Amino acid sequence: PFDGRLDRPVVLVGLMGAGKSTVGRRLARRLGLPFVDSDSEIEDAAGLSAGEVFQRFGEHDFRDGERRVVARLATGPVRVIATGGGAFVNEETRALLNDKCITVWLDAPVGLLAERTARRPETRPMLKDGNRSETLARLIDERRPAYAEAHIRIASEGGAHHEVVERIIAAL
Ligand code: S3P
Repeated sequence: PFDGRLDRPVVLVGLMGAGKSTVGRRLARRLGLPFVDSDSEIEDAAGLSAGEVFQRFGEHDFRDGERRVVARLATGPVRVIATGGGAFVNEETRALLNDKCITVWLDAPVGLLAERTARRPETRPMLKDGNRSETLARLIDERRPAYAEAHIRIASEGGAHHEVVERIIAAL
């Protein structure tokens, strides 16, 4: 069991719909740590939803802001951090997170990702055009090598969130 001593932030990475925000919030509560979500930080800074930033300024500017926000969080206080699905794909961000934090990849099958991201489609600009499952399958293929560099991989097959939380704690 987890002995309660964490000297660095715990960072959740993985695709949209993997449960980073939901699991992250619960994990934080369970560990008695604050929780922060990089998309929300971008939203606070921009005064717009992450989807709106993406649409209005384009993916390039969104990624730029995301890189800076995540770098600040990575070097900040010990807490649980949920990242946007693209953050860990950036090589510089990935190296920084792996150096300063404990990184946890929530690896979920495409069917589950498709089901979960169907709920609030306006929050997922990457999925607005084309077939949701096909896009997610392509993103899994593209991003898997990056996510696989996380310190810990947790298979999230759609079980209860609290089980995923317990599995993360067991792996810390
Ligand atoms: C993105 C994931 C989103 C958000 C943006 C881009 C991605 O975050 O950052 O829409 O490229 O995978 P979530 O993973 O929290 O949905």
